[in-house]
Amino acid sequence: MDRRKLILNGVQLGAGLAMAPLLTVGTAMAQSPSNSAKASGSTPDRRSPGRKSRIFITGSSDGLGHAAARTLLGEGHEVVVHVRSQARLPAVRALVDQGAIATIGDLSDLDQTRDLARQVNAIGTMDAVIHNAGILSGPGVLVVNVVAPYLLTALIRRPRRLIYLSSSMHKGGRTSLDGIDWSGRTGTAGYSESKLFITTLAAAVARLWPDVYSNAVDPGWVPTKMGGANAPDDLRLGHLTQEWLATSNDPRALTSGGYWYHQRLQPPHAVVHDTRFQDRLLAELARVTGTRLV
Ligand SMILES: NC(=O)c1ccc[n+]([C@@H]2O[C@H](COP(=O)([O-])OP(=O)(O)OC[C@H]3O[C@@H](n4cnc5c(N)ncnc54)[C@H](OP(=O)(O)O)[C@@H]3O)[C@@H](O)[C@H]2O)c1
Repeated sequence: MDRRKLILNGVQLGAGLAMAPLLTVGTAMAQSPSNSAKASGSTPDRRSPGRKSRIFITGSSDGLGHAAARTLLGEGHEVVVHVRSQARLPAVRALVDQGAIATIGDLSDLDQTRDLARQVNAIGTMDAVIHNAGILSGPGVLVVNVVAPYLLTALIRRPRRLIYLSSSMHKGGRTSLDGIDWSGRTGTAGYSESKLFITTLAAAVARLWPDVYSNAVDPGWVPTKMGGANAPDDLRLGHLTQEWLATSNDPRALTSGGYWYHQRLQPPHAVVHDTRFQDRLLAELARVTGTRLV
């Protein structure tokens, strides 16, 4: 049996962690999604009533991503978890033991992010993707928080639902795209800008892909590695909204272009729905990644 078949069989058997040592970061172990093969329109919704969803969650080794993965697995959904490196696989061992499938890729590295998209596509079409991974500071803040989710959105076969983790701090982000160094080598933008841009991306995707429910979520200031032990908001509510948007058939969850906090719509920064700003952002992200959102 060749290497790819072995891995795919592992996936079908739900033996994510067993296959994990085979997942060599940077190795194209699965068929590449050609842009033409990638969703060129709506992905048929093959779900029948009562069928559980297949959900990919970035940054599931810790915090809100890990909590969402655990809850969704407990509800019987098929969950594809993600860690940055082989060394972080132990953080999802318990989830894999419950049936999750593990993927690997450092989102600060565009080649690894492309490989991660290939791993996800090799598993099959996702019903929902939760773009959760994020960092608060450092040179990778734009790459991890904005460029990587953009690239994954462009390369992963189009799901029915897309959820992007935002923050109330996006409202303090600078609205200029002039002179942004997307590589992060020079600090031209910080966390607030990254969350303004990802919230804008969610709204742009909602506009461009009417067949997809695309939403942004402010989880609140909650006690995770990022939020700190003294964060005042409710940790359970911090991951509830993304789980609900990913799986619920509540008519409110089957809407697009929203910015949510604890299952309630909130007004985002006004520029988020400015289509010229959206188009400029998409053009910038296409330029830095060499990949257009089609
Ligand atoms: N916590 C809050 O109060 C708060 C408030 C507003 C918004 N948010 C947003 O909510 C999301 C989740 O935050 P959190 O509080 O759960 O943060 P967290 O506890 O720090 O967890 C972040 C997750 O992202 C992963 N990650 C970070 N950089 C990565 C990279 N380069 N490649 C792959 N994975 C990477 C981390 O992996 P490792 O475990 O290996 O580091 C971890 O699994 C973020 O987008 C954040 O901006 C959080």
